[in-house]
Amino acid sequence: MYADIVTIFPDYFAPLDLSLVGKARRAGLVNWQVHDLRSWTHDRHHTVDDTPYGGGAGMVMKPEPWGEALDDLLDRAWSTPTLIIPTPAGEPFSQALAYEWAAASHVVFACGRYEGIDARVAQYAATRMPVREVSIGDYVLNGGEVAVLAMMEAIVRLVPGVVGNPESLVEESHAVGSGLLEYPAYTKPVSWRGWDVPEVLLSGHHGRVEAWRQERSRERTAAVRPDLLDADNA
Ligand code: ADE
Repeated sequence: MYADIVTIFPDYFAPLDLSLVGKARRAGLVNWQVHDLRSWTHDRHHTVDDTPYGGGAGMVMKPEPWGEALDDLLDRAWSTPTLIIPTPAGEPFSQALAYEWAAASHVVFACGRYEGIDARVAQYAATRMPVREVSIGDYVLNGGEVAVLAMMEAIVRLVPGVVGNPESLVEESHAVGSGLLEYPAYTKPVSWRGWDVPEVLLSGHHGRVEAWRQERSRERTAAVRPDLLDADNA
């Protein structure tokens, strides 16, 4: 999995070199390159935005630097990448999309500010590559950078070899596949500040443990995400 990340704030992506994701890069399992959109501007001020046609608050990102950036990245690509545009107006990002892009050889992330990129950029891009506009949740960030950090972490940990114990992914994928939220987890000590680990988890009885976890998953899902339960029963 190789990612090009285009942004006006390259410094946002320094944390990708930390922890599991950074380790995966150093191990050669994934790689990415961060590009400053302003390197595709030609005026003295490196202008990337302008006022919106039709009026309204805020600025819109100009199409020209984006067009040149995409052309350059496509020229350098060995196969057709997927363009991912984070936007609160996109389809919901999901574990299924994370799996899809973990298996992709090349993706390009285009980080806009929240007023957005001139709509013709996505139209043009769609003539040259698959384009997905995605949202990481029903709230508005100042730009796509934090959304890309979240998506990269979700994607990279699914690249084969990145997570040391693939069993943990299998457990997770069961949770996702079942449409339920994960059950609560406990570790030592068995008693802490008067709170005890549920007896059944100490029983060594695999079947009872599984049944208990299923119940807790259903309970938690019903309490905070009843929409998932409805989808599950459909
Ligand atoms: N850009 C601004 N808000 C966003 C969101 N919720 N998801 C993805 N990109 C965004």
